[in-house]
Amino acid sequence: MELSDVAADLTEVLLTEKQISDKIAELSRLIERDYEGERPLLVGVLKGAVMVMADLARELKLHIDMDWMAVSSYGAGTQSSGVVRILKDLDSDLHGRKVLIVEDIIDSGLTLSWLVKNLRARGADSVEICALLRKPEAAKVQVDVKYVGFDIPNAFVVGYGLDYAEKYRNLRGVGILAPHVYA
Ligand code: IMP
Ligand code: MG
Repeated sequence: MELSDVAADLTEVLLTEKQISDKIAELSRLIERDYEGERPLLVGVLKGAVMVMADLARELKLHIDMDWMAVSSYGAGTQSSGVVRILKDLDSDLHGRKVLIVEDIIDSGLTLSWLVKNLRARGADSVEICALLRKPEAAKVQVDVKYVGFDIPNAFVVGYGLDYAEKYRNLRGVGILAPHVYA
């Protein structure tokens, strides 16, 4: 779906499909350089990271493994609860692995700071983060993100994997959701 298909639900177009794919290519070159000769395990955080994972994995000129976790920190609203619960765990053993967490967005940072600690405790060699979006003004905890696509304003955004009440994940771009949609 195009951003223009839901124009009435958005106040602003933040990122076009082209801007996103250019950024994914740019991040991929950095990742290829840093993991040269390695076979990292990409851990996608369901469901938001599905699009980033699909595009990043195909752009990378590296052998990788892919695994998925589902954690809940949100419910159906637009506010972070700070409570992280594992809904689906990894299938992989992390001992000695170079893990790269793939995320759609860092908002408060609560989910990722919890996740990094959790995965490190499983014996991974290294745990780094690649996030397409970050909201610097929303940070409640500091998270070291090695690869970040775009810093964006502190607004609720949808598209390219990001949802509001499970809608809008299939938009090709990212836009700011109009308040009337969640009021
Ligand atoms: P955090 O724990 O506050 O950093 O938020 C983690 C998760 O909340 C992200 O992985 C997203 O799934 C979701 N989230 C945060 N901000 C937004 C947003 O603006 N739109 C849609 N989902 C969001
Ligand atoms: Mg997410």
